[in-house]
Amino acid sequence: MTFDDIIQFRRSNRKFKADEPVPSEIVEKALEHASLAPNSSNMQLWEFHWVRDEDKKKKLVHACLNQSAARTAQELVVIVTRRDKWRHRVQWHKNLILKDAERVGRDARSIKLRLTYYTKLMPFSYMNDGLGILGLYRRLLSFAIGLFRPIYRAEGHAQQRITVHKSAALAAENFMLSMASEEFHTCPMEGFDGVRVKRILGLPRRAEINMVIGCGKGQDDGFWGPRRRLPKDEVIKVH
Ligand SMILES: Cc1cc2nc3c(=O)[nH]c(=O)nc-3n(C[C@H](O)[C@H](O)[C@H](O)COP(=O)(O)O)c2cc1C
Repeated sequence: MTFDDIIQFRRSNRKFKADEPVPSEIVEKALEHASLAPNSSNMQLWEFHWVRDEDKKKKLVHACLNQSAARTAQELVVIVTRRDKWRHRVQWHKNLILKDAERVGRDARSIKLRLTYYTKLMPFSYMNDGLGILGLYRRLLSFAIGLFRPIYRAEGHAQQRITVHKSAALAAENFMLSMASEEFHTCPMEGFDGVRVKRILGLPRRAEINMVIGCGKGQDDGFWGPRRRLPKDEVIKVH
């Protein structure tokens, strides 16, 4: 398939054929492709939960409001955001940077910059306190500096959530395009009860469900009619 074929093939299908399973290596490959998506600061604050256990699957379908894209899916994958894991990711980066430092020396400019980025800037962006004081501080600081020069405006919970959901959605698209390249359909869903999905997957409070993706061989009547998009000039703006 060419890239254009893959894009054209990927459509949300909500009725998957019961007799055409998805080979597990195709799902595995698609999950690897998901993890190769671009993501904010390479913090990879995501997880991809492939739900294979029949009992959990049943519960997940129920939590997805029993919609047919979940009910008929051969495979179900849940894209999860994990901004609570920022400390772990910082440590992971720090270890890699220190390993690189053994080769080029700790004083190398690139090492210093990367260390500052992950051990100062990332904690500054992701650290929170129970009262929202840090968020307010970041907002005020960004506002003050922003009066004089462009600045990345680190703020509070809302902005952190947007950041991790952006990256997770890109991973979801990688996953779906990978499945499409093997001629399997998908349906991303946000029609679910996030509290229940989190409980089924045993996730902590700060984890969030980005999308649940149903996968399989789509039936011809599983598409919601022809693919309709707005006229180009409505959405593509050239400046
Ligand atoms: C974030 C997101 C949430 C969605 N939620 C649902 C859903 O809960 N149920 C569903 O049937 N389709 C859902 N969709 C699929 C959209 O309806 C579909 O992508 C859109 O109609 C465009 O059609 P296409 O994917 O075939 O190009 C969702 C898509 C996205 C990106």
